[in-house]
Amino acid sequence: MRIFIDTANLDEIREAADMGILDGVTTNPSLVAKEGHKDFRAMLEKICEIVDGDVSAEVISVTCNEIVKEAKELSKIHDNIVVKVPLIKEGLKAVKILSSEGIKTNVTLCFSPSQAILAAKAGAYLVSPFVGRLDDISAGGMELIAQIVNIYSNYDFQTQVLVASIRNPLHFVDAAQIGADVCTIPFSVINQLVKHPLTDIGLDKFMEDWKKNFGG
Ligand code: E4P
Repeated sequence: MRIFIDTANLDEIREAADMGILDGVTTNPSLVAKEGHKDFRAMLEKICEIVDGDVSAEVISVTCNEIVKEAKELSKIHDNIVVKVPLIKEGLKAVKILSSEGIKTNVTLCFSPSQAILAAKAGAYLVSPFVGRLDDISAGGMELIAQIVNIYSNYDFQTQVLVASIRNPLHFVDAAQIGADVCTIPFSVINQLVKHPLTDIGLDKFMEDWKKNFGG
């Protein structure tokens, strides 16, 4: 399973990349706004310098022609840019055109298996079902991932399932058990994935025993 970081914070991206676990980055308009980036293009160029992997950049257009136009501009920034397109009718039309021209898309805001099937049919490279937002309304986000993975495998669809809106380590582990292709994870959850109290207790004991024997 590939691991992406779900952030527009460059320090977080650098730290996750330094940990050797990072395969890509996802951003969205809210994450970009949260970090206060004023130059979207410059931000994407910096991210692509830090990470050699897929970098999702979301369009803010909602009509097919405008989405295609915006997507083409974004894809010129770097070979690793994947254009995020909303899962609406106009978005699917744009995905069809973009995929026929070799531009990779990440179809975002997916909340149902039917939407995921349509994204695959239109030629999406990635589909992003939002598990956390479904859990928030008691709808069972991980069940959706299992359904999509199963359906895609039934028909050998090439679209990869990117588990988005991850809120906790269980989402990450469940996604891996189901066999999702990619997980995009906030930095705070990446930190949680590393931690285990027995690791900390064990390390403290090793340090203490070493000092007792050798001093220092
Ligand atoms: C990433 O591609 C999505 O935009 C993101 O995971 C959404 O996460 P949220 O539901 O926590 O905003």
